[in-house]
Amino acid sequence: MMTISLIWGVVVAVCCCLWLILGIRRRQIGEPPLENGLIPYVGCALQFGANPLEFLRKNQRKHGHVFTCKLMGKYVHFITNPLSFHKVLCHGKYFDWTKFHFTTSSKVFGHRSIDPSDGHTAENINQTFIKTLQGDALNALDKTMMENLQLVMRPPILSKSKTAAWMTEGMYSFCYRVMFEAGYLTLFGKDLTREDSQRALMLSNLDNFKQFDKIFPALVAGLPIHVFKAAHHAREKLAEDFKHENLRKRDHVSDLVSMRMVLNDQLSTFDDMEKAKTHLVVLWASQANTIPTTFWSLFQMMRNPEAMKAATEEVNKTLENAGQKISFDGDPICLNQMQLNDMPVLDSIIKESLRLSSASLNIRAAKEDFTLHVEDGSFNIRKDDFIAFYPPLMHLDPEIYQDPLTFKYDRYLDENGKAKTTFYSNGLKLKYYYMPFGSGATICPGRIFAVHEIKEFLILMLSYFELELVESQVKCPPLDQSRVGLGILPPLNDIEFKYKFKSL
Ligand code: HEM
Repeated sequence: MMTISLIWGVVVAVCCCLWLILGIRRRQIGEPPLENGLIPYVGCALQFGANPLEFLRKNQRKHGHVFTCKLMGKYVHFITNPLSFHKVLCHGKYFDWTKFHFTTSSKVFGHRSIDPSDGHTAENINQTFIKTLQGDALNALDKTMMENLQLVMRPPILSKSKTAAWMTEGMYSFCYRVMFEAGYLTLFGKDLTREDSQRALMLSNLDNFKQFDKIFPALVAGLPIHVFKAAHHAREKLAEDFKHENLRKRDHVSDLVSMRMVLNDQLSTFDDMEKAKTHLVVLWASQANTIPTTFWSLFQMMRNPEAMKAATEEVNKTLENAGQKISFDGDPICLNQMQLNDMPVLDSIIKESLRLSSASLNIRAAKEDFTLHVEDGSFNIRKDDFIAFYPPLMHLDPEIYQDPLTFKYDRYLDENGKAKTTFYSNGLKLKYYYMPFGSGATICPGRIFAVHEIKEFLILMLSYFELELVESQVKCPPLDQSRVGLGILPPLNDIEFKYKFKSL
């Protein structure tokens, strides 16, 4: 018995030594300083996950602006000097922009790879996104979203008692409900065969989306969806409605979804459910960050009287100049791209809300060994390692943004009330000072539409409703840190607010 224990002891000790000798990466000459962490494979992932901002700031103090951390078996080189960001992006030929995104998408949504080089589809999905979410395509999206928002927000039948009464609701759940329904209808159109049950169907979609989105961080971390029975069922139900046979029954489907249907049918070997799941990717991308941003923009605007005043004045002026009249039963308000773009106060409110709540990680993989030349020196990078920016480090840097934790509605306005674009680090003007939408080749293709739809929401809230916070001195809710790395953090708790239709 003693001998067997001894043999096992020796085997374990040898394995530990081998791991120490062979398993731990050693920093080679010219490479960034390295943090291997204490736990094999996991590396520094626990400290990073617990508080990324603190963890990165601590390493920045210890190592300088470029350092490498082992995270779940991968080596990630963090570039933390915003003056270096444009230099990193100049090394595009060494980066694989898509590997991380496509692998994550398959893992989370359950389709085979959408990377053309894997042979299941020849569609360049990024090109489809750009073609159908930007430029001229944006006119139709803006118009349809504005109509749908009014469909959801305006009272269905004008009963005096209903319009005169104050309603109380959680602000986050209000924003979730309104933006989800209007956004869903804008991209995927209306089901003409089930018009009488449209509302109930939308509520069921909303429930399913919330269930699926709740476990999103766990799926990205690699847990299989089968562990989460209810969320798995919710994902399949959402996808079922996106099977092409069901999408064909819908009217006013956006160019984005119709084009993706054609390309999916012509260029992929996906089965019906896999095609549907690639549409679910679009639903998630269009909603998951937009909803919390809408909440933060409305909340921050409402708790800052000056912001509320400036926003109301801008909205009134814009509607007047556009000859738009607010009414409950007349034509819905309609503003074109140019009019929406020319609203610097709302822009600044939305930007400031994004600055304070964004926690996305910008990642690309190294295709080959190469040398990265940045502001702080030159560093050798190995093939298959990752390069990452964590924009909150910059968004919350007191040198760039004075008093960085305070919401200042006019932070992005210059002395003439126009968009402010000059921000400095170390006395030098920054090219990149605001990155909630990512950067370079993987920058969010829906970013312009996202800002337009949030503006439309705020315009309508200020035009149709009287608004009040239930608790006028309410504290700002903490950010839900469980979604760090994935985009805009939602509030940890909801905030009650009251709204009432204006007497027009
Ligand atoms: C405030 C709202 C939004 C934020 C903060 C946001 C942010 C982001 C970020 C950070 C990425 C990843 C970029 C990267 O990896 O570097 C992304 C990707 C993407 N976003 Fe957005 N987004 C928003 C709204 C939207 C909307 C409304 C749409 C579409 C209607 C959209 C469509 C997409 C798509 C399709 C991708 C994936 C692009 C690809 O992998 O090729 N987003 N978004």
